[in-house]
Amino acid sequence: MSGRYLLRTFGCQMNEHDSERIAGLLDARGLERTDAVEDADLVLFNTCCIRENADQRLYGQLGRLRAEKARRPGLTVAVGGCLAQKDGADLAARAPAVDVVFGTHNLARLPDLLDTAAASDTPVVEIAAETATFPSTLPAARDKAHTAWVTIAIGCDNSCTFCIVPAVRGREVSRRAADIVAECEMLAADGVVEVTLLGQNVNSYGRDLDGRRPLFADLLRSVDGVAGIQRIRFTSPHPKDLRPETVAAMAECETVCEQLHLPVQAGSDRVLAAMHRGYTAARYLERLESARAGIQDLTVSTDIIVGFPGETEADFQATLDLVEAAQFDSAFTFVYSPRPGTVAAELDDPTPVEEKEDRYRRLTDLQGAISWSRNLELVGRDVEILVEGPSKKDTSRLTGRTRGGKLVHVPDDGNTAPGSLRTARVTGAASHYLTGELAG
Ligand code: 5AD
Ligand code: SF4
Repeated sequence: MSGRYLLRTFGCQMNEHDSERIAGLLDARGLERTDAVEDADLVLFNTCCIRENADQRLYGQLGRLRAEKARRPGLTVAVGGCLAQKDGADLAARAPAVDVVFGTHNLARLPDLLDTAAASDTPVVEIAAETATFPSTLPAARDKAHTAWVTIAIGCDNSCTFCIVPAVRGREVSRRAADIVAECEMLAADGVVEVTLLGQNVNSYGRDLDGRRPLFADLLRSVDGVAGIQRIRFTSPHPKDLRPETVAAMAECETVCEQLHLPVQAGSDRVLAAMHRGYTAARYLERLESARAGIQDLTVSTDIIVGFPGETEADFQATLDLVEAAQFDSAFTFVYSPRPGTVAAELDDPTPVEEKEDRYRRLTDLQGAISWSRNLELVGRDVEILVEGPSKKDTSRLTGRTRGGKLVHVPDDGNTAPGSLRTARVTGAASHYLTGELAG
């Protein structure tokens, strides 16, 4: 195998993390990365299947590659990730440009599968039902030198009725704490100052390990003890499993950031029950309140789905009420997308799509105003930022993130390297970012 590869990633942080491993494996084989399809000998897609539009985008791109392949028969196309895990051989049948299909559980096999495909006239499809190695143990080509993702668990044991993830990523499997800590130590030795612990449902971490231990709170304490790691983040906890121990550990561990992504999904108890979320709106707000009481200056984000089957205007109003009460710093908002194979996909869904889009717009308008007012509260304050590098839009500015994960743009003082921790005085706020000046 030789030449250049193009790697496109769709979806969540878990996929971004897997893509770093895919790139690491290919770099180790001597391939070079490119951003131009015309220059690529190998095009890889790391795919997502959480909503239908992700499927459509992928199949659209694969369709366009067919013409490129007709021009350059040597071009190899590989598809991995969640959609590949879900569709397997069907994917190769539906998209004739595809040479290799691999799943979420067998990334390590990719180089061998590419070798097999080179000697084969038919597509090579290999999907594993179980993970042999945690992706974190494979070589990585990280995008940023100072920050890294660390997998703590894969899979999900919940059964949210809208969600395809359990069917695709399988049962929850926790990684041994000693391995997680060892990886963080290795990353710190390599100059990493911030780690994000990744799991589909981080606070059920450890339940499948011997003695059902350690708890996620214990794990936070262990990683907090790793010299050189200055910020720990994690994503995502499930509201029903957010334990007081976790809040206490977050408050106590200096390196654990005051940031919580707590997906609520909906504000109507009827819809939450139909979603199988395991909490009511009141219970969610109680949990949120305890977290805010225990952790000073907590930044909170959430996920919300609009238009779940059977959601009425009154149900939607309950979501708006919850959003008003919760005062989230930010929210990822989605229009419900039926995923074949899930329980919710079988439910009656009489609400017209225009109605759902209107609800979506009302929700984002409300959350946009709340995000802006939450950010305005920071104007005039000094915040610690971890500098990421020059701003993409304006290279005379640097971009950093607060401990709460908010973006801050500051003028570049010419001697602040990516990965530096600096103090910024916040001078302005928009709904998605802050502006400021470097101080101190
Ligand atoms: N339709 C819309 N949004 C979904 N999510 C998961 N499944 C669906 C679906 N079928 C959203 C949830 C989840 C986030 C990662 O994606 O809000 O928290
Ligand atoms: Fe999907 Fe629910 Fe598991 Fe999250 S907790 S991955 S939404 S089933």
